[in-house]
Amino acid sequence: MVLRLASSYMSLPQTPRSSSHLSQRIPSRKFGKMWKRGCTRRPDILPSLNGDNACLRVFVLSDLHTDYSENMMWVECLSTVKHKRDVLLVAGDVAETYNNFVLTMSLLKERFEHVFYVPGNHDLWCRRGSEISFGSLEKLEKLLDACKRLGVKTDPVVIGSLGIIPLFSWYHESFDREDDITSFRIPPLEMACKDYHACKWPEELSNKDTSLASYFDAMNEHNMDIVEDIKKTCEQIITFSHFIPRQELCPEKRMLFYPNLPKIIGSDSLEVRLRSIHGAEGSGSACHVFGHTHFCWDAVLDGIRYVQAPLAYPRERKRRMNGGENWLPFCVYSDGEFTERLSPCYWSDYYSVNPRRPHNTELAPWVARFYSQRINTTR
Ligand SMILES: [Fe+2]
Repeated sequence: MVLRLASSYMSLPQTPRSSSHLSQRIPSRKFGKMWKRGCTRRPDILPSLNGDNACLRVFVLSDLHTDYSENMMWVECLSTVKHKRDVLLVAGDVAETYNNFVLTMSLLKERFEHVFYVPGNHDLWCRRGSEISFGSLEKLEKLLDACKRLGVKTDPVVIGSLGIIPLFSWYHESFDREDDITSFRIPPLEMACKDYHACKWPEELSNKDTSLASYFDAMNEHNMDIVEDIKKTCEQIITFSHFIPRQELCPEKRMLFYPNLPKIIGSDSLEVRLRSIHGAEGSGSACHVFGHTHFCWDAVLDGIRYVQAPLAYPRERKRRMNGGENWLPFCVYSDGEFTERLSPCYWSDYYSVNPRRPHNTELAPWVARFYSQRINTTR
């Protein structure tokens, strides 16, 4: 049975708190240590079947966007029986509104034994109903509180010999280091990306520099003693974030309908953070799951397997080569091992046989066609 929550539980309070205590606790990376508690914490150890990983399955999913009724229906149609003993990692962008977020997470929690979550950009939009009066940090706090009440995990845990580590992150423009496309006028980020208007940050935090990325990265400091414990005791580790840790996990600019996309997708400190967990060389037992760009991805880079399995927007699913949504959520771990690669997986398949050539700024035919049509229709 679907857990339907009372309306008072589903709605944001009408009166905002006097100030965001999240922003008071972690104003920037340099204050990250404020998250550390006075004593060493131990990771939560969750029960797994038979006391080992023999029957443990971990599924991954990102970018649910359940403000689209088709997507909410997709979540409602997930089996209430099949995943009762499984784990689900939700890599952000669940819903724009708080009510849809809580409904979605309660539906997932009913279907899976354990659900984990990290926030995405859409989750922190504040532009509808009573949320207009909120700041994105206040909304983040409310989402994390809702997760706690629903039993959704946002901290690292151990299940059998598997460590699962959620990583908070945000993007910064300087993450993009590849040559810009200059052959036509690309709409500015503020026009193309609604985050610039729908997210509301304190004055000192911005996408334009690294302050927001550092701020979110500092939230992970709170868990580093637990992470050290997991590194010592777990045979395999899955980290997961919403944003992307390396530019190579996104197609080159000339392939993209919005070529400036790499400026609003990733974080350098995220890659540093996950390498501090998995090791600079990685290993066969290291996996990082991400979301945000809506490109299915499954590739190994410098010893770490990087996976994206997005539900994405309904119109995007119709175009997918791997057949819509029936393969989701994607099982990344089963019976003590990481599963076979997600296949087909258009862009990571492409880059497994084609070198990346970021200095080539000649538009891909579909992008050139798209922009020439736009120019023709605006004349
Ligand atoms: Fe996103």
